[in-house]
Amino acid sequence: MELHQLLQEAKEKIALVSTQAELGDVRAFYLGKKSPLQKYMKKMSSLTPEERKTLGAEINAIKGELEDLVNQKRQALLDMEIEARLQKETVDVTLPGHVFPVGTMHPLKQMIRKVEDIFIGMGYSIKEGPEIETDRFNFEMLNVPKGHPARDMQDTFYISENLLLRTQTSPVQVRTLLEAKGKPVKILCPGKVYRRDDDDATHSHQFMQFEGLVVGPDITMSDLKGTLSLFIKKLFGSAREIRFKPSYFPFTEPSVEVDVSCFKCGGKGCPMCKHTGWIEILGAGMVHPNVLKSANYDPEKMQGFAFGIGIERVTMLAQQIDDIRHFYLNDKRFLQQFERGNK
Ligand code: DAH
Repeated sequence: MELHQLLQEAKEKIALVSTQAELGDVRAFYLGKKSPLQKYMKKMSSLTPEERKTLGAEINAIKGELEDLVNQKRQALLDMEIEARLQKETVDVTLPGHVFPVGTMHPLKQMIRKVEDIFIGMGYSIKEGPEIETDRFNFEMLNVPKGHPARDMQDTFYISENLLLRTQTSPVQVRTLLEAKGKPVKILCPGKVYRRDDDDATHSHQFMQFEGLVVGPDITMSDLKGTLSLFIKKLFGSAREIRFKPSYFPFTEPSVEVDVSCFKCGGKGCPMCKHTGWIEILGAGMVHPNVLKSANYDPEKMQGFAFGIGIERVTMLAQQIDDIRHFYLNDKRFLQQFERGNK
């Protein structure tokens, strides 16, 4: 075969290939060690130096040209592959998107965040304490010695004689005071508490409370009143009033129960406030000197107030929820009603 025929044939083959693998084969055939061009090389020895020079130059030119053609073809095939992939993978932005279901923050958690925000705004720190508590912190250091009748109201789940599921968040008061070692404190503690209660629409063996505690020099009952009044207005609206009623808690003296003017009827009387115009919302009082003493504070130098709020209770009131059990059933129809509170 003449050299120019060989070149022509190779060009046609290269033009026809459609994959990188085929191109590799064609290249190996025409440019590899056993290519027909090699036969011409072998002929060289029988030629005159003049002819050798001409033939050598011709073969090199053909090799160069084929090499170029193969490279161009390789690039063209690559471009085609990319183009084909782009065609296949184009995104149709007009198609409807996938909706990924996202959970919602639980209504109790939403209330915790809201109340925490209010108190953080008043300079409080958030504290936590253990849910498995000692008898000493849960009762004794809160002025409730063994055999005290107040224990009956909070009969609980004992793990051993001195270990129990806490009945209240109040033990965090003593824990905080012991840590603060005589310094002033201002804390809010949200958390779960447990009582051996029969479950009904307003009671559950497990529920949540906020414990508030402020201790410092010259803290008085008017600080308590001002704080709770501001809190209630921020939570339930600026038109809300509060009133104090005398009460009894072993760890406060004096102790009060706090009512808020009914946010449904504004105080006129309706089924929500049982026609009294007031809704009971929390317990509070001035920290009992025995509690301060048990945490090595001198009640002559430092005083304080404390309060306890039922988180389920305020959430039920704020959202008009009629049964405490809704919070724990994980019924999506209930939970989805609070989606907007997440935003
Ligand atoms: N620990 C009380 C309870 O569970 C609530 C409470 C009342 C907490 C008065 C306080 C307080 O800090 O001062 O019933």
